[in-house]
Amino acid sequence: MTTLKLGFIGAGFIAKFHANALKFVRGMDLAGVYALKGAEELAAHARKIGVGDCQVFSSVAELCNHCDAVAVLVPNFARIEVIEQIVAAVKAGAALKGIICEKPLGRNVAEAKRIVELGREAGIPNSYFENQTYMKSVKSTLAQLAPQQKAMGPLMLARAFEEHAGPHEGWFWNPTRQGGGALLDMGCHTIAANWFMLTPVGKDVRFLEPVAISADTCLLKWGQPKWRAQLLDTMGVDYAKTPAEDYASGMITYRNPDTGQHVKSQFSCSWMYDKQGMRMFMDGLGPGYGYELNSLVSPLEIFIGDAAAEAVADAETALEKSTASRGLLTVVANEPDLYGYVDELEDARDAFLAGRDAQFNWEYGLEITRLCMAAYLAAERGHALDLTDAELQGELDTYVPLIQQGRGAEVLHVM
Ligand SMILES: NC(=O)c1ccc[n+]([C@@H]2O[C@H](COP(=O)([O-])OP(=O)(O)OC[C@H]3O[C@@H](n4cnc5c(N)ncnc54)[C@H](O)[C@@H]3O)[C@@H](O)[C@H]2O)c1
Repeated sequence: MTTLKLGFIGAGFIAKFHANALKFVRGMDLAGVYALKGAEELAAHARKIGVGDCQVFSSVAELCNHCDAVAVLVPNFARIEVIEQIVAAVKAGAALKGIICEKPLGRNVAEAKRIVELGREAGIPNSYFENQTYMKSVKSTLAQLAPQQKAMGPLMLARAFEEHAGPHEGWFWNPTRQGGGALLDMGCHTIAANWFMLTPVGKDVRFLEPVAISADTCLLKWGQPKWRAQLLDTMGVDYAKTPAEDYASGMITYRNPDTGQHVKSQFSCSWMYDKQGMRMFMDGLGPGYGYELNSLVSPLEIFIGDAAAEAVADAETALEKSTASRGLLTVVANEPDLYGYVDELEDARDAFLAGRDAQFNWEYGLEITRLCMAAYLAAERGHALDLTDAELQGELDTYVPLIQQGRGAEVLHVM
C-alpha cells in the first residue's frame, strides 16, 4: 500500500485529535507540522504514539515541500492566509496531491467562495472535513435502512443536535474572529449531518435542493452577568460588548428534484449543554422506520466517589469537553473513531491517491457555509427565507451576520 505523507498546519485541539485518529488509519503518516504554537509538542506526541516521524517545519511552504498532502487545522480567521500560502507553494513546485480544510470552510459566503477559488487555482484535489457524515454509526444507519428506503420511500425528517458547555480557546468565543457562536461552530455539523441522512441512498451529497430555512439564535447562559464575568476572566471576551449566540435552532426544507417531495432538517447546537460533555444526537423518521443515535450512550461507565475525586488528573481523557470528574461518568473509549475522524482521513487518503476530491469537497463546504449564513439572516429577520429566491442568494454572497460584525447586542438578549 502506498503511504501518503500528511502535514498539519496548526497544532492545537483538532490537530491532536487527528494525530490520535491516525493510529487507526493505514497508509497515512504524519510527516510534518507547522504552527504558530504547539508544533514541537504535537510532533513529539505523534512520534510517541507511532503515527509518523513527524518533523517541525518553519513555514507553510517548507511543509508543503516535504509532504504529499496538507491539512489546514488553524482557527477560522487564519484560513484564507494559510490556504493562499499553500497555493503559492504549489505554484512554486510543491508536489501536493491534496489539501484538507477543517470546518467551517469560511466565516461567511464571501470567504468560503475565496477558498473554493483558491482550490481551483491550486488545481489539486481537496477535502472539506465534516466528520459527522463519516461516523461509522451514521454509515451503519444508512446501510441498515437502505432496503426500507427502497421499499417505503426516503427519510422525511432528520433531527441533529451537537452540544457541549463551550469551546476551549478565546478565539472561538469572539464572534469577529470565529465568525459567530454555536451556530457557525457547530451548526455546520448538524446541518451537514441532516442533509446527508435525508439524501436518498445512492444519490449525490448535494442531490436534495434547499428551498426554505427558518432559525433562532439566542444567548441563554453566557449573557448572564455571572457567566459573562467568568467568560471575560477565562477567555478575555466581553459578551456585554460583543456577544455571540450560545444556542441556535432551525429548520431547513429540502426538495427532492426527482419526485418534488419536501423533507425537513431540524438542527440545534449549543454551548450551554451543562451535562456530561459533548453530545451528538441524531434521529430521523421515514415512512414505517426510524433511527436514533446518541454519542453519550457508551458501553463504559466509570464511577468516582467524592473521597476518590482528588486523584482525578484530567476529566477530558474520558470525554471531549467533559464537565465533571466525579460521580457516574460517561467514558468514550475511542473518540476519534466514534466522531468520524478516522473515516474522513481514510477517505482523503483514498481520494488524493486516486487524484480526485474526497466525498465532501470545498464546493460542498461552501454550500454548508451558505446555509449557516442563511440561518443567521433568517434569525435576524425573524421569519423563514425562500432559498430559491435569486435575489436572496445574491444577498447571501456578501452578507456578514450582525453577530459576526461584533453587533450581536442588536439581536441577542444580554442581561
Ligand atoms: N471537526 C471538528 O469537530 C472540529 C473540532 C475542533 C476544531 N475544529 C476546527 O479546527 C480548526 C482549529 O481549531 P482548534 O480547536 O484546533 O484550535 P486551537 O486554537 O486549539 O489550535 C489552533 C492551532 O493553529 C495555530 N495557528 C493559528 N494561526 C496560525 C497561522 N496563521 N499559521 C499557522 N498556525 C496557526 C495555533 O498556533 C494552534 O496550533 C477550527 O477551524 C475549528 O473550527 C473542528
